[in-house]
Amino acid sequence: MPLRSFLFVPADSERKLAKGLASEADALILDLEDAVAWTNKPQARRMASTWLEQRASDTAGPRRFVRVNPLDSGLALDDLAAVVQPGLHGIVLPKPTSSADLLRLHHVLEALEARAGMVVGEVSVLPVITETPQAMLNMNTFSVPQPRVVAVTWGAEDLSAAIGAVSNRDEDGPLAPLYVWAQSLCLCVAASSSAVAIDTLYADFRDAAGLAASCRQARRRGFGGRIAIHPDQVEVINTAFSATEAELAHARRVVEAFEQQPNAGTLSLDGVMYDMPHLKQARRTLGLPT
Ligand code: COA
Ligand code: MG
Repeated sequence: MPLRSFLFVPADSERKLAKGLASEADALILDLEDAVAWTNKPQARRMASTWLEQRASDTAGPRRFVRVNPLDSGLALDDLAAVVQPGLHGIVLPKPTSSADLLRLHHVLEALEARAGMVVGEVSVLPVITETPQAMLNMNTFSVPQPRVVAVTWGAEDLSAAIGAVSNRDEDGPLAPLYVWAQSLCLCVAASSSAVAIDTLYADFRDAAGLAASCRQARRRGFGGRIAIHPDQVEVINTAFSATEAELAHARRVVEAFEQQPNAGTLSLDGVMYDMPHLKQARRTLGLPT
């Protein structure tokens, strides 16, 4: 099942919960954190719990993730206790400070899965690995694969707020170096965990052309999907992160060429050299094991 588009849905909004379900998103992230006002937190938690309960036996539709509050917020354990139940596919963990937080989450999930009669280990985790300055300095700890981690994402907003930056962009528009670095680290952590790298949100949700161009660039760099914040962004993201017919045809030719010459480590196709990294890329494009 592809994981290209993750649509954020504030969990305290009935309308958005309904709209999200009707979207073509590969996954929904019911948000209990930054999109929910402090006074609405208990209500959002109850709504997310009920919504999941109603879908406990649904196998179709988007995968169901919940973004809980950070582990040191005083809210996370109540969030997790409310939402870990059949029907939940994954937890999005914001603001971890190192992989020790992922280990803590893993142990809490084990207990809650056992209590809920779920298979222990079945709930996936999607950490947002660049939201705290501590995490940036502890980034190598995230390179140890954790079986629950199916995808990894990054964000520039909370990091710049924590640092006290006026903006995460330079005066002429591009991301400042710290955030380009954060984006690149996300690619490395995802690859070292055999997880999908999910690019951060594109805030201007009316700008479909800008989103499409930005997604194409992200895919070239190694991202496999993207966060969406509005249903209109889902189709653009799904299209941008799917291989085109031309890419599939080319990948098939590369794989076939190596199959025809099983003893070749390198070969030529249309006058261009191909070796093992190209074969790996082609197999990945075709969804074959690499
Ligand atoms: N998920 C599901 N439905 C959504 C949605 C979302 N993220 N964003 C908008 N919609 C719905 C709206 O409710 C509306 O449907 P309705 O007419 O049935 O109520 C429809 O899509 C059109 O919405 P629109 O009027 O274009 O946008 P808006 O002004 O209502 O909302 C935002 C704009 C930014 C507030 C909204 O998109 C949003 O809440 N995004 C998610 C924010 C979030 O979760 N942030 C945390 C992660 S960074
Ligand atoms: Mg945030």
